[in-house]
Amino acid sequence: MKEPLRPADICAHLGDDYDRYLGAIVPPLFQNSLFTRKRESHGYSYTRINNPTIEILEKKLAALEHAPAARVFASGMAAITATLSSLLHSGDHVLALRSAYYPVSAFLNTEMKKYGVEVTYLEHFTLEEIEKNLQPNTKVFYLESPSSNIFRVLPLRDIAKRAHACGAAAVIDNTWSTPLYQKPLDLGFDYSIHSATKYLGGHSDILGGVVLGGAEQLESLRNNQRSCWGACMDPFSAWLLIRSLRTLEVRMARHSASAARVAQFLEQHPRVRKVYYPGLKSDEGHAQAETQMTGYSGLMSFVPDEDNEAIFKMVKSLDVFEEGPSWGGFESVVNTPGLNSNLEMLQFEGIPQGLVRISVGLEDADTLIEDLDQALSAMSG
Ligand SMILES: Cc1ncc(COP(=O)(O)O)c(C=O)c1O
Repeated sequence: MKEPLRPADICAHLGDDYDRYLGAIVPPLFQNSLFTRKRESHGYSYTRINNPTIEILEKKLAALEHAPAARVFASGMAAITATLSSLLHSGDHVLALRSAYYPVSAFLNTEMKKYGVEVTYLEHFTLEEIEKNLQPNTKVFYLESPSSNIFRVLPLRDIAKRAHACGAAAVIDNTWSTPLYQKPLDLGFDYSIHSATKYLGGHSDILGGVVLGGAEQLESLRNNQRSCWGACMDPFSAWLLIRSLRTLEVRMARHSASAARVAQFLEQHPRVRKVYYPGLKSDEGHAQAETQMTGYSGLMSFVPDEDNEAIFKMVKSLDVFEEGPSWGGFESVVNTPGLNSNLEMLQFEGIPQGLVRISVGLEDADTLIEDLDQALSAMSG
């Protein structure tokens, strides 16, 4: 195929190496821990270090996001914590986004603090806010865009430039966009991380994480954090992820088209106060998103115009949307971050009371809209 390969072609064929594997159209699963060396020198020894199935996956992921290299991990959190601990040393300081996935703040506040790392949380990550909070020992800017729950969009090119001007690494969790809709390394970021548990896996049957970045940095991440902690992906999950990537582009096109319809439906609904979805023209992050993203995935949130009790009732009335904390799978899911009784935590993350998050799955968009419509009608009835 002609270079550069298009995303769907990368997903379908890159790295599959048919000649090496007897023409198998689906590359075999190397479900083994040990590679013996007596007969041949092939470069493999132990799956915690490397494995041919895992390498095929890493090759596809790096190419998809225009990254020199990719390393996969046991989960998104394993990928995030490995990256942060590779970059931070005792006495260092991090600037982190408040509305990023909450367990990352928990990691910074507990584990990293134990090793003498300081953290300051920024609400909007504007250049003014960065300037006010920078310290001579700031070594990492950590953020998401769009962020968790409220999908705040940040000016990524400016943030990466500012990080480099003070010698800090720019790190982003790019899970929401997938490598198809946002390529942070092209925007100046040093590391882009995904929970592969979400859209990359897409079938709610695996846990995984990915870090994309420079070849030298990722070689060190593999040999040190991933290998020492044993946070590697198991080969079967890697094989399932290769399967999932074959349909990534068509799945995302469907998630995106259905999400646009659902968001418009919610925006026009008289019982909905506000919708958070950067794909909507009315969203406050839309103009910025258009300068750095090429598409919008299927995760959004909204605040019904009712009290918490009625909102709880609405969520329980949903028939097609299952209730649960994950997202990015084939199935539609609802979650209620805004009904959390820990008000301090809601305030810290900028989550409005009553916020309902939905992951728009691959069901028919009409079915999803009908389900939301009947549940919103049931809200105060
Ligand atoms: C934005 C984001 N990043 C990272 C993670 C963590 O991923 P994992 O569950 O694969 O560890 C999640 C999980 O929900 C998430 O929503």
